[in-house]
Amino acid sequence: MKVAVVGATGLVGTKMLQVLAERNFPVTELLPVASARSIGKEVEFKGKKYKVVGMEDAIKAKPAVAIFSAGGSTSLEWAPKFAEAGITVIDNSSAWRMDPTKPLVVPEINADILTASDKIIANPNCSTIQMVVALNPLHKKYGIKRIVVSTYQSVTGTGVKAVDQLLNERKGVVGEMAYKYPIDLNVIPQIDVFTENGYTKEEMKMVKETAKIMRDDTIRVTATTVRIPVMGGHSESANVEFLNDFTLDEVRSLLEAAPGVVVVDDTANAKYPMPMDAHEKDDVFVGRLRRDESQDKTLNMWIVSDNLRKGAATNAVQIAEYLNSKGLL
Ligand SMILES: NC(=O)c1ccc[n+]([C@@H]2O[C@H](COP(=O)([O-])OP(=O)(O)OC[C@H]3O[C@@H](n4cnc5c(N)ncnc54)[C@H](OP(=O)(O)O)[C@@H]3O)[C@@H](O)[C@H]2O)c1
Repeated sequence: MKVAVVGATGLVGTKMLQVLAERNFPVTELLPVASARSIGKEVEFKGKKYKVVGMEDAIKAKPAVAIFSAGGSTSLEWAPKFAEAGITVIDNSSAWRMDPTKPLVVPEINADILTASDKIIANPNCSTIQMVVALNPLHKKYGIKRIVVSTYQSVTGTGVKAVDQLLNERKGVVGEMAYKYPIDLNVIPQIDVFTENGYTKEEMKMVKETAKIMRDDTIRVTATTVRIPVMGGHSESANVEFLNDFTLDEVRSLLEAAPGVVVVDDTANAKYPMPMDAHEKDDVFVGRLRRDESQDKTLNMWIVSDNLRKGAATNAVQIAEYLNSKGLL
């Protein structure tokens, strides 16, 4: 299958190439695409070098699928042109996620909504993906009433420039800033821009995308999203109120049986999920499972995942795998 990776020189795009290779996605011809400044540069896939091409050339080559991670405005402009040419686009930006005509998919939860006529498919926000993978099995059993979530997000979620900022600051080198403030030895309680209600766009993505993916707009979500000087993945503290009561043993069993979830919860031996352990893994790790003693039917949990993998590349490749397995490409 001909596959285009748009944004192939970026952090997510590079991970996309790695994940496509690792999972042995049946790529017969790879088209790495990036901005005009990268045309002719080389990227590596399965030990071979491929030259970066421009958007027009990629469309002319008619790949079956194009996986976009090149930012929202690029996607708004180019995804419809790929789609018009019959190419299925899986998009990592926020451009199409809340468009009611576009599916927003986490394969473990709602791949069943996909049809052959879906030509632009949205990959959710990284912090939303790991949260819903962990919470969906509990929602099915107990019904979620409300989620209060606070995130501790890796600089890799901002892209190459942010990783460089952190590494430069560690070395004492003055360089380009991805954030308004230093990130090393700091915590920044702002991810994406502020919206009119005082929340950031990232926080509102967690609110809106959760309802869309879980197909239940009665779930109430409130989020505080925070950037920390970490690289391996995003962490989340979630306080989840259910409609029906639970036992911790049953919660643990449900999570242990859930696809894509690994329970790491052994407080006697100080075992819990951490980004340094989640790094380069595809799973969503959950731990610190405990009752909220201040409120009935409420659970506290800690959720960690590599945002570049399940939060971006792995989820997108799993969507492509699903489409391929159902003959929808
Ligand atoms: N990082 C995450 O955890 C994460 C998770 C989910 C989704 N995303 C989304 O994925 C996208 C990329 O994120 P990233 O972290 O990989 O950023 P990044 O490291 O800055 O990479 C951006 C990529 O987009 C390409 N690009 C930029 N403008 C373009 C244009 N006009 N035409 C074609 N290609 C263009 C860049 O090419 P050049 O090298 O030529 O500039 C580069 O390959 C964003 O939409 C982001 O919101 C990121």
